[in-house]
Amino acid sequence: MVLLIMEHSDLENNIESSLEEIDRSSTLGELDDIRTKILGRSGIVNSAFKVMASIPGDQKKAFGARINILKEKVEMAIREKRKELENIEIATRLANEDIDATLPACDSEIGSLHIISKMVRNIRKRYHARGFLVLDGPEVESEFHNFDALNIPAHHPARQSHDTFYIKNFAGTLLRTHTSTVQIRSLMERGVPIRMISIGKTYRSDNLDATHSPMFHQVEGLVVEREPLSVGNLKKELQRLIAACLEIDDIDEVNVRFRPSYFPFTEPSMEVDCMHEKIGHKWIELGGAGMVHPNVYKNCCLDSDGLYGFAFGFGLERVTMLRNQIHDIRSLYDTDVRWLKHY
Ligand code: DAH
Repeated sequence: MVLLIMEHSDLENNIESSLEEIDRSSTLGELDDIRTKILGRSGIVNSAFKVMASIPGDQKKAFGARINILKEKVEMAIREKRKELENIEIATRLANEDIDATLPACDSEIGSLHIISKMVRNIRKRYHARGFLVLDGPEVESEFHNFDALNIPAHHPARQSHDTFYIKNFAGTLLRTHTSTVQIRSLMERGVPIRMISIGKTYRSDNLDATHSPMFHQVEGLVVEREPLSVGNLKKELQRLIAACLEIDDIDEVNVRFRPSYFPFTEPSMEVDCMHEKIGHKWIELGGAGMVHPNVYKNCCLDSDGLYGFAFGFGLERVTMLRNQIHDIRSLYDTDVRWLKHY
């Protein structure tokens, strides 16, 4: 009991000193760091929620309410401080910016194709040549396409592992957390058999740091036939895809290995690792894959009998960074043309 009381007051002291830190922060970057420290995945608030398990039943409710009040207090303080810092930033920028509208327009410098775009084009070209449909889907999606149809119903733990941006005031809409949504759209609109890939932007509410970005690209593939397809076919397809990403002609140069995993939309499911000298000749975790779960067909109004399908999905940033020896994901999105031209 003594221990619990200490934890309570520790929490409040921590929050108090965090509020002071918020007040003292002088840049948006500093404020973001404090935010992560308090509200991030392993921040003070989440750690407090973890203590809940050890709180006696009759005190849980009050303790939970107390954390929530502190959480709201912090969120409000951060919101207000952010507004204040943003205003200061704009004012400083306006004061320092000196635009001479009388200068003649100069020839604008011709840019260069982004390295992610180059990889996207390479993949699309090779898959188009092999007769795959190369499809796009919307980035603002419905919960149905992003979750339910993929056999991830409401309250399924897999939903919590996707840190989703929901669209305010439009219930049931979100920024897609993966390109598996396009599997669903293709199955519903085009039926089977089908061979498709889709590449595009996906969103998760991660803080921007050297290895995470709230926006990133994924490639998704789906093959469904009425003839038997095996995990062996899937493996070969992944070798082809990686060869396309890395512009390799001989797909047998690409090593692929599977580790058992779980995705609600495939059974069996696996994590995919790959290895090639162009990305440092060590095993790299790439993404997920598996044989399409019968519920996915059912959710797309298809009869799963006699259908064989596999699917795969992975992010493109990691491979691009390894291939080009880039260590910080943020440099991919700095829009610095000189940097881009270097590649
Ligand atoms: N959508 C999964 C993710 O973003 C990746 C994935 C796993 C896609 C298995 C698939 C699949 O198509 O079969 O984490």
